[in-house]
Amino acid sequence: MAATGATSGVFITFEGGEGGGKSRQSRALARHLRRRGIPVLLTREPGGEPLAIRLRRLLKGNSTLTPEAELLLFAASRAQLTSRIIRPALAEGRVVVCDRYADSTLAYQGYGRGMDTEAIRAANCIAMGGLTPDITVLLDVPTEVGLARKHTDDDRFIREPPPFHKRVRQGYLELSHLEPQRWLVVDALLPEKEVARAVWARVAPLLPKRDRL
Ligand code: TYD
Repeated sequence: MAATGATSGVFITFEGGEGGGKSRQSRALARHLRRRGIPVLLTREPGGEPLAIRLRRLLKGNSTLTPEAELLLFAASRAQLTSRIIRPALAEGRVVVCDRYADSTLAYQGYGRGMDTEAIRAANCIAMGGLTPDITVLLDVPTEVGLARKHTDDDRFIREPPPFHKRVRQGYLELSHLEPQRWLVVDALLPEKEVARAVWARVAPLLPKRDRL
């Protein structure tokens, strides 16, 4: 039940395009775990750590960022969160639930913006320092439906044109095919409770036996 990369906790990430319900589902999973007395850390990217929160504001609002600067700031934010927050929590044996992580950069900057995925993998590798999620849940939603669920446009990623979001979705699906043992792909059009059940069915076997029910 150890997250890959020398820890004793379990590391679960949620991924997907806009409007798939990642935040709700990651909160629901964290609640479910806490109710069972399992120590949890719920966090998100970009953010989750003081410096990373400052980078989040820059990344979401600053349209003068070049694609290269954007990629490196996402990586910087991830490096902070990983070493200051995620690793210590895993070392304490917590279950870490993270709303977006390294696969977001492959999907958005790689497939979405068309940046070199090998370069992105290298940046991720530095930021993650050998850590890999045990499970990554992809909440897959048709692009138009996902975007229609978003009621804000104060985020420059949401304002990207539909073909960008379609590439992101396609990218996620390709990534999930490359590592099927790590990914759980869930149809985000299903009722929330069914999505949560599918997630739990995959997470429970990673927990100590007494915590699985
Ligand atoms: P956020 O408000 O967290 O969006 P969401 O609710 O969709 O998770 O904003 C994060 C935005 O940043 C989101 O549009 C995806 C984008 N993003 C990247 O482009 N690359 C990344 O590596 C990460 C972590 C996020």
